[in-house]
Amino acid sequence: MKQSIAGLVSVGLASVLLLAGCGKSDDVLVVGTNATFPPFEYVGGVSGDEIQGFDIDLAKQIAKDAGKTLKVENMNFDSLIVALNAGKIDFIASGMTITPERQASVDFSAPYYEATQVVLVNKDNTSINSIDDLKGKHIAVQLGSTGDIMAKTYSQKVTAFNTGFEAVMELKNNKVDLVLFDSEPAISFLNKNPQLKMVELEFDAEFYGLAVPKGQTELLTTINNSLKTMKSNGEYDALVTKYMK
Ligand code: ARG
Repeated sequence: MKQSIAGLVSVGLASVLLLAGCGKSDDVLVVGTNATFPPFEYVGGVSGDEIQGFDIDLAKQIAKDAGKTLKVENMNFDSLIVALNAGKIDFIASGMTITPERQASVDFSAPYYEATQVVLVNKDNTSINSIDDLKGKHIAVQLGSTGDIMAKTYSQKVTAFNTGFEAVMELKNNKVDLVLFDSEPAISFLNKNPQLKMVELEFDAEFYGLAVPKGQTELLTTINNSLKTMKSNGEYDALVTKYMK
């Protein structure tokens, strides 16, 4: 008897440790993001190491609605879907565009933000005025992004970086002709780099969604309900004003 209680206790302890080890427990909701994508997710705050942004505020509200505490896991953008499907994170909030390819491996929430790709070039560059002008240009992108996928359809000279910052750096150093990136982060990079300009071409609209593992209908319903409530009670618009203007 004594022994079996000890056994039970140690099994219990082991599972607690196991859960703590991967950052998961019943009252914690783990969101995965790539915090190099202002204003949706970036590292900042007073301490300079806090992960903040539009998506993070959405995720906080979702956790609150689910009665859980939010934990943020920051990782490379191209690792997010793998981490989600390995159970390391519960959902993705990372300005992720809903695409049919991604829908084959994850389930997306209702679209929560409309974006588009834009081109960033050095101010003196007047050579890009249409999508056709992208042909054969040296394009810098973020690895695994929709910009990355699109760039490859226009040119064979595509260099992919783990972050948009690095892509912009490469442009400033004249190592590439242009950066293809999402509109809002592009504007945010532009604000910090007056030597660059943005060129808007006729790209299709993209819609961001939050992603959960396939078949996680309960969490997906919570997420969609939170989004709906935030849109109807003005919280969503308040976040747009806070982060996009
Ligand atoms: N919207 C683009 C995509 O889904 C880029 C997203 C990048 N997000 C980020 N947090 N770095 O591929």
